[in-house]
This record gives sequence, structure tokens and C-alpha cells, in this order.
Amino acid sequence: MSNANEKRLAGEAAIRHVEDGAIVGVGTGSTVAFFINALADIKDRIQGAVSSSEQSTAQLNKLGIPVLSLNDAGPLTLYVDGADECDPHKRLIKGGGAALTREKIIAAASAKFVCIIDSSKQVDLLGKFPLPIEVIPMARSLIGREVVKLGGQPVWRDGVVTDNGNWIIDVHGWQITDPVSLESQLNQLPGIVAVGLFARRPADVVLVGDREI
Ligand code: A5P
Repeated sequence: MSNANEKRLAGEAAIRHVEDGAIVGVGTGSTVAFFINALADIKDRIQGAVSSSEQSTAQLNKLGIPVLSLNDAGPLTLYVDGADECDPHKRLIKGGGAALTREKIIAAASAKFVCIIDSSKQVDLLGKFPLPIEVIPMARSLIGREVVKLGGQPVWRDGVVTDNGNWIIDVHGWQITDPVSLESQLNQLPGIVAVGLFARRPADVVLVGDREI
């Protein structure tokens, strides 16, 4: 079961990784919301943030933290984000909040990815949490069929439109023994915008509550 106190501790502990003058990459979700609150306390020490979602942007704006575009910011030193699952190699499933594409872009642009979770997210094998895939709407059925060929059960997250105007398919029933290969394989399919597997670029640091693993 998810633990709000551990999420808060993780969000607050991630502040230790913020360097003076930084532009901080900011993820999405309830754990990140605690991080943004803590970031507001030191906002005079940073230049601002690059946000991965309209949701996080709204919170950053409300707290008076400047939001910059990634194109203006250039390479980032730090990205802080939550996850839906995390394995012992710091490989992740993300996208429960439908923000996976922008999250993946910012993670790729960042030298250090600090992942903040509560202990309910720790798994030995990825895949119990259905794997989110963002698709171009016209490719939904095509990708669904491809997923079935690969042994997954695709479920359209009906009614959800991402910040990029696309749709989400959640894949059930995969026990992901080789997440790097699966991520690469899915990335080849036309119509997939991003896969919620963060295995080719895993987290660098994982904070479970205030404990670093
Ligand atoms: C957003 O799309 C996700 O990748 C989130 O990072 C993930 O769902 C974690 O959310 P919570 O911090 O709310 O558990």
C-alpha cells in the first residue's frame, strides 16, 4: 500500500541533491508534489525548474518557482521524479499519471536522475503495474495488436488525453525479465510516442523515504 509519509520524506530528502543556481528538472505525481513544496522553501537558491506536466507547472507557478522551457534551459544537472515500480537495478515503470513522454525527455536531458518513491513501489521484477505506453491516437489498434503478439494484454485508458494530445495504452500481464530489450523493441513500433519503461536510462539514485538505496 502506498505510504504518504514515506513519499513526503523522499520528496524532502531529494532537496539534498539540488545545487545552488541549478535549473531543476521536475517530474509529476503525488511524491513530486512534496518535492515541489520543499523546493519552494529554497527557491531563492535556484534559477528555476523545467516541468514534465501541466499539473507540476501549475504547482510550480502557484509557489512562485520560475518555469523554463527545456530548450531554453539546455542540459540539466538534476531531474527528480517518482515512479510506479522500481527494480533492484533502479529500472522503472512510469506513466501512471500519463506524463511519461515529457518525463522521459527531461530524464534524458539530465546528468543525474533522482527517483523518489515509497516502499510499495519496490519490486524484484517489473510488470505487475500495467506498463503505460503513449500512442498517437490513430495507432491505438495497431499497437494493441502488436502488444498481443508480444504476449501482453493492452487496455486503452479511455477518456485520458496526454498533455501532448495523445492516448495511453496500459499493458497488463507482462513479467518484464529484460526491460532494456523490451523498451528497445517497443521503441521501434511506429505510432508509439514513448514507453513507460525507464531501463535504458534508469535512475541514478533512488530514495525510498529518506533512505538512499
Ligand atoms: C507520472 O506519469 C508517473 O510517472 C509518476 O511518476 C508516477 O505515477 C508516480 O506517482 P506517485 O508519486 O503519485 O505515486
